[in-house]
Amino acid sequence: MTLVAGVDSSTQSCTVVIRDAETGALVRSGRAKHPDGTEVDPAAWWDALQAAVADAGGLDGVEAIAVAGQQHGMVCLDAAGEVVRPALLWNDTRSAQAASDLVAELGATAWVEATGLVPVASFTATKLRWLAEHEPDHAAATAAVCLPHDWLTWKLHGTGELADLVTDRSDASGTAYYSGVTGEYRLDLLERAFGRSDVQLPRVLGPAEEAGRTPDGVLLGPGAGDNASAALGLGAGPGDVVVSIGTSGVVSAVSHTPTADESGTIAGFSSATGEHLPIVVTLNAARVLDATARILGVDHDGLSRLALSAPAGADGLVLVPYLEGERTPNRPDSTGALHGLTLASSTPGHVARAAVEGLLCGLADALDALVAAGVPVERAFLVGGGARSEALARIAPAVFGRPVLRPTPGEYVADGAARQAAWVLSGGESPPVWEAADTETFEAEPTPAVRERYAQVRDLTAPRTG
Ligand code: XUL
Repeated sequence: MTLVAGVDSSTQSCTVVIRDAETGALVRSGRAKHPDGTEVDPAAWWDALQAAVADAGGLDGVEAIAVAGQQHGMVCLDAAGEVVRPALLWNDTRSAQAASDLVAELGATAWVEATGLVPVASFTATKLRWLAEHEPDHAAATAAVCLPHDWLTWKLHGTGELADLVTDRSDASGTAYYSGVTGEYRLDLLERAFGRSDVQLPRVLGPAEEAGRTPDGVLLGPGAGDNASAALGLGAGPGDVVVSIGTSGVVSAVSHTPTADESGTIAGFSSATGEHLPIVVTLNAARVLDATARILGVDHDGLSRLALSAPAGADGLVLVPYLEGERTPNRPDSTGALHGLTLASSTPGHVARAAVEGLLCGLADALDALVAAGVPVERAFLVGGGARSEALARIAPAVFGRPVLRPTPGEYVADGAARQAAWVLSGGESPPVWEAADTETFEAEPTPAVRERYAQVRDLTAPRTG
């Protein structure tokens, strides 16, 4: 049996799956935790990767490996290849002002035309602007800039040469200095953001291009951003939309055509298979469920039971889930809010229901934006840790107004990386065909009133203080 490995270096943990290259059958897997925080020393990802590989029983017999990872994180390296400062992650909002400045300087239209994106604090270019303004010494020491998955692939390669840094289209397309349409970096935009463009950027590889070999001879794939990798792992094609409820809330679709959304709601990323991946990403997703469970003093099953015990619409109680500020819509300084409390709605069940519905309403807005942009949507898949919630899966079709398919819970990001590794190994025109995951279908009567009520209050949140 020929084995391949796929890595998901996510915000919270590192997962390694080892699969049969031909059939995709899972052979073994391992996992290790990442530190908390929105600023992380990349060495912690490397340690977690080694620990996850060890947990998976090592890489014996593995012929190819690819790394997928959290997108956008700014990893700056000096001329000797050392990390200049801890990486700023996608969910670090300190570059919100830099993002507004970059949009004001050039205009949203020019950004969208050049990169498919309107800068928000998540994207790498805004983090580089922040670094140039706030830590000029670190900016000056920077000789190369790469993303979390690029850095891990480079560490696996093990040469230590900055010229060996590589990335793929899907992750490059989230930097805001790359065009997924032309396949070229926009050094003029890097220069605008960072004040210089004389830094080494990773070479952008094609979807199944070899990225070298580890010192042990294991073939390396180009890797991918986690969202593109999840689509590859699920085998999503045009017409499929993937709603992922993890640390971030993500609604994305593989599309033959790029999008250009000047409102910035849809980011025009690239897929891991050569197409485009229009995507809407929210900052507040699974952790809204964690926070609500904490408030109510219950575990996740308890939260789910409570939410299902309350009526649809929670008798007018609405939870706006901007607990970490928000990225889509762009409200980095907002806070969460509960609207419409009455004596009748002051029950744990109502609060639980409002949390699940509020989270889903934000994602339903995202889904509508994709449909309005002409992205074909025929099937909606629900994945990610939050999708394990029974309440979420049962209420989602009511809020979305369409059935949702929930694949068996799995490691779809790591699976996508493993499938890519198998693709690189095979040298074929397209990824190997692996058996699709089993799915469960959830259907419900649409509840448009829930969406309307949410729309009335979603912008009434108070700014963050202190
Ligand atoms: C995508 C994004 C998040 C991270 C999470 O734009 O910021 O989905 O990739 O890992």
